[in-house]
Amino acid sequence: MARPIAERVIEEVRLATDVVDLISGYVTLKKKGQNYFGLCPFHNEKTPSFSVNPEKQIFHCFGCSAGGNAFTFIMKHEGTSFPDTVKFLGQRAGIQIDFEEQDEGQARQNEALFHINEFAVGWYREMLLTEQGKRAHDYLVGRGLTSQDIETYGVGYAPPGWDNLLRQAQRTANDEEALLQVGLILEKEEGRRYDRFRDRIMFPIWNLSGRVVAFGGRILQDKQDAPKYVNSPESAIYLKGKLLYGLFQNRDEIRKQDFAVFVEGYMDFLSLASVGIRNAVATSGTSLTEDQARLILRYTRNVTLMYDSDSAGSAAALRGADVLIEQGLQVLIAKLPDGHDPDSYIREQGAAALRERLEQALPLFDFKLNQLTAQSPEQRSEGIRSLLESLARMRDRIQRSLLLSDLAGKLHISEKILWTELETVIQKKAVNASHRVSTIAERLTDLSRVKGHSRSKKAMDDLVRILIHDWSVAEFVFNHIELEEVKDSDKLPVLTYFRNQFKSEKRPSESELLQRFSEVDLAEFIVGEVNKELPQVDFQRWAADCIAALKKEKLQQEIATIREDLKQTELDAPRRAKLLGRCIELENEKKNLF
Ligand code: UTP
Ligand code: MN
Repeated sequence: MARPIAERVIEEVRLATDVVDLISGYVTLKKKGQNYFGLCPFHNEKTPSFSVNPEKQIFHCFGCSAGGNAFTFIMKHEGTSFPDTVKFLGQRAGIQIDFEEQDEGQARQNEALFHINEFAVGWYREMLLTEQGKRAHDYLVGRGLTSQDIETYGVGYAPPGWDNLLRQAQRTANDEEALLQVGLILEKEEGRRYDRFRDRIMFPIWNLSGRVVAFGGRILQDKQDAPKYVNSPESAIYLKGKLLYGLFQNRDEIRKQDFAVFVEGYMDFLSLASVGIRNAVATSGTSLTEDQARLILRYTRNVTLMYDSDSAGSAAALRGADVLIEQGLQVLIAKLPDGHDPDSYIREQGAAALRERLEQALPLFDFKLNQLTAQSPEQRSEGIRSLLESLARMRDRIQRSLLLSDLAGKLHISEKILWTELETVIQKKAVNASHRVSTIAERLTDLSRVKGHSRSKKAMDDLVRILIHDWSVAEFVFNHIELEEVKDSDKLPVLTYFRNQFKSEKRPSESELLQRFSEVDLAEFIVGEVNKELPQVDFQRWAADCIAALKKEKLQQEIATIREDLKQTELDAPRRAKLLGRCIELENEKKNLF
């Protein structure tokens, strides 16, 4: 069982966390008046309706009414439980939190994995500066990196030999099992262990907390029979598709410039960094994932893809572009002369030339359109279909429709034909996606099953609402209902809090109300209400209606139970009379409600 985290610790974490600072790690925020605004991470939108209030330490979206405090933001965004969220924010703030048993195991284990990687980074860096590493160091310098770049990005060297790292770990009493788990060493069938990375330049890969989770190791001299790069396998701390190389170092710049450059290789990333282009990330030669698209969306909506200019690179860029578009990003494609990648282009033509290429990048659709011109009719119709494929992925229908008209004009094809084709593509996609939709539909049916008490649920919601807006009604409310009567409402914690405040003759403070409840739906409800203007109505009358509805529902339930009892044939006459009497009593009570 989870040991609850002490209230004092939660409070400490709360105080140490600034909601603006926290959320800017996920959403690009701009200050407007007292508040900050950005695009809501919880629904798809084009104009910012997501606000963060530094004074109240809350967020609220006027579009989808998501809202809450720092804890609920993380819970909603990451899908974590409350204790995990406290731990996460605690760690972020450098506060030591007592982990409960099982989690402690997992956390300690992950910590061991981070630790072993950091040990390896340190050692590889040392090795780069030894006599043995000179060749590697010269190689890097020869490719244009300064010692400063090498240092900043933790580049190191794994010397030749089967077990240098392993032996170093043993000498320094480092955890051999952890080495195995992060894949720095491998095990043969006979149980013999050896280093994965040998005679390679080592690029550490960081997660967003700045911990090293994996490595890419480049061979020093390209060889036919050896892979150019050897990479760490996935592990408990490394999921390849959820990470972008260099995002940790460059995210602030990406946010500031409101635009990111995607390149394929570690070397491309480092070359850009070495000439001061610090808004890049590398996709490390794998296809872009949805997770990566959502990841970058936390910092910007604008991405320029600058992939290798060979057929594999162009194909990868176009596939990646579709993944990004589907998540609502604006995608540009930057083209380099044949045979170049960003790194080689910088070395040959200089940084200014590369910047120019970035500036000349074309929106995906223009890029695809341009490709059409030099093609045969068959290739053209293939190309148009690919354009429609991309259009079908766009979420913004208005933009989609504008682009389609534009396209029709430029291609001299009737808009109607393009629409029909687009419909076909969309329908095909819908069929493919239908299994996903059905699971959502299933969940919705589950929800409707628990409905039933919706009237009293609404009444509870309204009572909380009323008390938030007009505390003077508290006396009336708490003189008329017993909270024990309404046990099964999700708003009960708030009403209980209100009642306790009322009993101790205190007014609930808005800030406490906003910070106290961390259950996501509840916090959302409260923030939504605090931000809402209610019309000036007779709040007490409204409260009376709510209380009547609650009591009525309760009476009805009691009556229903008695009616069930009355159906029993073996009831004796006195008992039956008694039940009937009670039933009539309850019916009368119901009639006399307010
Ligand atoms: P590149 O071949 O373009 O490498 O692969 P690069 O980073 O530009 O390196 P240089 O310029 O040749 O030195 C792009 C990325 O694909 C992954 C690596 O992440 C690499 O950075 N890759 C490539 C592998 O994982 N394994 C390989 O064998 C090759
Ligand atoms: Mn390269």
